[in-house]
Amino acid sequence: MATTPDASSWAALLLFLLLHGSLSRRTADAADTITASRPLSGNQKLVSQGDKFALGFYRPAGGPLSNWYIAIWYNKVSIQTAVWIANREAPISNPDESQLTISQDGALILLNQSKSVVWSSNNVHNATLPHVNNSSKEAMTTVAVLLNTGNLVLSDASNASHVLWQSFDHLTDTQLPNMKIGWNKATGASTRLVSWRNHYDPSPGLFSVEMDPGDNSQYVFLWNNSIPYFTGGKYDRNTGAFSGIPEMTPMISNSMYTFQYVDNDREAYFMVTIKDDSIFFRLTIDASGQTRSTVWMEDRKEWMLFFLQPKAKCAVYSMCGLFSRCAESALPPCSCLKGFHEQSPSSWISGNYAKGCVRNVDLQCRSNSSAPKKTREDKFYMMNNVRLPDWSRGVPAESVGDCKAACLDNCSCSAYSYNGTCLLWYTDLVNLQDSLDGSGDSIFIRLAASELPDSKIKKWRVVSIIVGGLVALACGVTACICFLRKRAMQAVLPSTADGRLATFKYSDLQLITKGFSEKLGSGSFGSVFKGVLPDKTVVAVKKLEGLRQGEKQFRAEMSTIGTIHHINLVRLLGFCSHGVQRLLVYEHMQNGSLDHHLFAKNAGGLSWSRRYQIAVGVAKGLAYLHEKCRDCIIHCDIKPENILLDASFVPKVADFGLAKLLGRDFSRVLTSMRGTIGYLAPEWISGMAITSKADVFSYGMLLFEIISQRRNVEKGEQAGASMFFPVLTAKKLLEGDLLLFLDPESVDEIDLEELERACKVACWCVQDAESSRPSMGEIVQILEGFVDVGIPPIPRYLHVLAESADHAEISVSE
Ligand SMILES: *[C@@H]1O[C@H](CO)[C@@H](O)[C@H](O)[C@H]1NC(C)=O
Ligand SMILES: *[C@@H]1O[C@H](CO)[C@@H](O)[C@H](O)[C@H]1NC(C)=O
Ligand SMILES: *[C@@H]1O[C@H](CO)[C@@H](O)[C@H](O)[C@H]1NC(C)=O
Ligand SMILES: *[C@@H]1O[C@H](CO)[C@@H](O)[C@H](O)[C@H]1NC(C)=O
Ligand SMILES: *[C@@H]1O[C@H](CO)[C@@H](O)[C@H](O)[C@H]1NC(C)=O
Ligand SMILES: *[C@@H]1O[C@H](CO)[C@@H](O)[C@H](O)[C@H]1NC(C)=O
Ligand SMILES: *[C@@H]1O[C@H](CO)[C@@H](O)[C@H](O)[C@H]1NC(C)=O
Ligand SMILES: *[C@@H]1O[C@H](CO)[C@@H](O)[C@H](O)[C@H]1NC(C)=O
Ligand SMILES: *[C@@H]1O[C@H](CO)[C@@H](O)[C@H](O)[C@H]1NC(C)=O
Repeated sequence: MATTPDASSWAALLLFLLLHGSLSRRTADAADTITASRPLSGNQKLVSQGDKFALGFYRPAGGPLSNWYIAIWYNKVSIQTAVWIANREAPISNPDESQLTISQDGALILLNQSKSVVWSSNNVHNATLPHVNNSSKEAMTTVAVLLNTGNLVLSDASNASHVLWQSFDHLTDTQLPNMKIGWNKATGASTRLVSWRNHYDPSPGLFSVEMDPGDNSQYVFLWNNSIPYFTGGKYDRNTGAFSGIPEMTPMISNSMYTFQYVDNDREAYFMVTIKDDSIFFRLTIDASGQTRSTVWMEDRKEWMLFFLQPKAKCAVYSMCGLFSRCAESALPPCSCLKGFHEQSPSSWISGNYAKGCVRNVDLQCRSNSSAPKKTREDKFYMMNNVRLPDWSRGVPAESVGDCKAACLDNCSCSAYSYNGTCLLWYTDLVNLQDSLDGSGDSIFIRLAASELPDSKIKKWRVVSIIVGGLVALACGVTACICFLRKRAMQAVLPSTADGRLATFKYSDLQLITKGFSEKLGSGSFGSVFKGVLPDKTVVAVKKLEGLRQGEKQFRAEMSTIGTIHHINLVRLLGFCSHGVQRLLVYEHMQNGSLDHHLFAKNAGGLSWSRRYQIAVGVAKGLAYLHEKCRDCIIHCDIKPENILLDASFVPKVADFGLAKLLGRDFSRVLTSMRGTIGYLAPEWISGMAITSKADVFSYGMLLFEIISQRRNVEKGEQAGASMFFPVLTAKKLLEGDLLLFLDPESVDEIDLEELERACKVACWCVQDAESSRPSMGEIVQILEGFVDVGIPPIPRYLHVLAESADHAEISVSE
């Protein structure tokens, strides 16, 4: 049975082998001390006496290949987890030619390739930094020792208790047991945690947590070192817990660890101590502004979350950046306000919303246009039931009209709210949230007039036509012609601002596609052609085939699809219904479909982090279709050909909503998918009712392909014969042929934590029973690391295929 996957868990084995393979590459030098004559370089590492911690050159998983840091990590935890970083702001590029050593004046210093000091335990910015001279008295009598607590201590060689410097006084984002967060009352020095900038970059981010200088008995969370946004409540000596984290208390009764609060003449601090030294406990503030207390679970090979603060993502200051709204239960939690768009779609998609949103159209009062005042005035857009943004200013106003006028009066005013008191916002809006309990306020957001279709102007136009007609027929005719010409223009130029669909004339589509001459591709639903609108916008025009729907039904369907907007869904701009022809006009995606990038032999391929972001993005798009639209939309045809990539490789799911157009039994889809059976859930074949879990299955198959960059089903030598890759891959892995699974050239850049999550998710998605498969919303949470799942069982469906694959290549034609 050595070559057949054991039903218990091939995924676990797969991961273990991968993790083990990559970690065993580095060899250890088991010293725990650095001296001037024994600096640290290349892949050498210090290991504390007791084996708990290691120190050496470290590269964050998934981060740039050339950014290396001096870090302390857990020596025995299989997922490399850094707890302290020396040069967090100054990475070096070549560990082999860099050195961590003792300087002439007895400081611990990091030298880069060109022997410049990039980090020092003294102030690195001092201009008087000594040249390296390891024969000075200080250099010879100073040693740096890595203790088994994770503390790196610089001390006198002849007297270890004469501590010159220690890493426990200079925290990064992690609090370890026995590490103090607080301040020294004599020197005023404080120790605090500062988040990483993002998952890959340990330089100081926007969030920090420290002892509240105003009330020593609590932690305070700060944004940008200045704005407090959360406290965990006061420490209660009786319960040994913070009032804001009552769930801490039972943990303490478990006696695994104890939170201490000390406040005396010399210092005030919080400290965790653990009873059993073999427990790996840490508290970190992550790049999204929340702190997590986690404990390593060796049997599950993962960090288990004990508590999270603040629990609400939206409680993090500026979580969604400027001009956005935060909704705790939405996925993603952040969305731009009407009239605004994401400043950085690519970081938005990777779950970093901090850059926020920017206006689509600048406020009129800011532009120096010479248009008449009437059309220049800005408008307001009302939002109900929200928690108002921060930084409002009250102004006297008699009525809501006065309040509005006060806002319009000043070009810096971006919003107002009136409930008897007039509040104005003279700044960018930050921390606008959906109210959870329905008791929120209303706010009026200032937008350029062109962002809001104005009913008054339309009425006025109609009135003017009538009046014009009455007063002077000639005038009326002129007005009509202008009006109609404008309408005609609008038909060809879809209005992207207000999000309504444009109806195109067939002749216009013929014109913009140069008579359907440039074919972009053909999918299950028809052929796609490139078109260029008069305003130079490039669009994709899809000619649907095999539709037998009436015009009315088609229009109704279109207006539903037209209201679906999500960053991970291809946007429908308009449609055309001409005789029996049905055409759809979509935004054009510069980078084409995912299959070209994943499988093309000579294309550059996609980096791991890009592939992972694509996996997350597709999951978000599908989660939106399944959970956030008015009616659940089942896609029915998830495969790489239907995932399009925009200019910055943001993935967009294409062709959603079309399966329904083809009728409820989906039979046509099934027929057309015979060639891509690798993505079909078993219930398609068994004839059971199709739910959104069928999409989840297809997503799982897609995820396998994103991970491996190979097709799950590939045509063999003989026509019709195919191989089933998830199974064959697993087999090869069990035989120890690791590199088959992943492109050998890309193994280095893979984030093992992400790989583990992706593998687990893929396996859970392809479970036989629909109820065992996670929902797309859950998948997003798992992939983003907010939720953990266990190791999935091997699905029977795959197992059967595995057995067939044991004997021969299997046929999937039926
Ligand atoms: C100084 O460092 C060099 C190399 O880094 C080493 O060869 C030499 O022995 C050291 N001298 C002393 C006095 O430690
Ligand atoms: C070494 O550090 C110095 C000072 O930070 C910098 O100017 C230099 O470019 C670095 N050298 C290399 C090879 O990175
Ligand atoms: C670094 O600068 C600070 C203040 O400018 C000074 O107090 C300290 O002594 C300097 N350290 C060294 C090693 O020169
Ligand atoms: C190194 O330090 C020793 C003792 O302080 C001194 O004699 C020697 O000249 C220094 N060498 C350099 C290269 O600075
Ligand atoms: C070692 O250093 C500590 C702290 O500086 C000091 O109190 C102690 O007297 C020193 N011991 C010796 C033997 O020098
Ligand atoms: C953080 O504060 C500094 C000034 O203290 C300011 O220059 C910077 O723009 C702020 N960062 C952000 C993201 O607002
Ligand atoms: C608007 O006009 C002012 C003064 O005439 C000028 O300083 C400013 O640059 C102009 N702004 C724009 C956006 O044209
Ligand atoms: C707008 O309001 C801000 C904040 O109150 C103020 O500083 C500014 O001078 C005002 N501008 C005008 C044109 O009134
Ligand atoms: C209006 O809103 C302000 C700020 O939210 C609040 O303090 C005040 O009580 C409200 N007034 C009324 C009449 O609801």
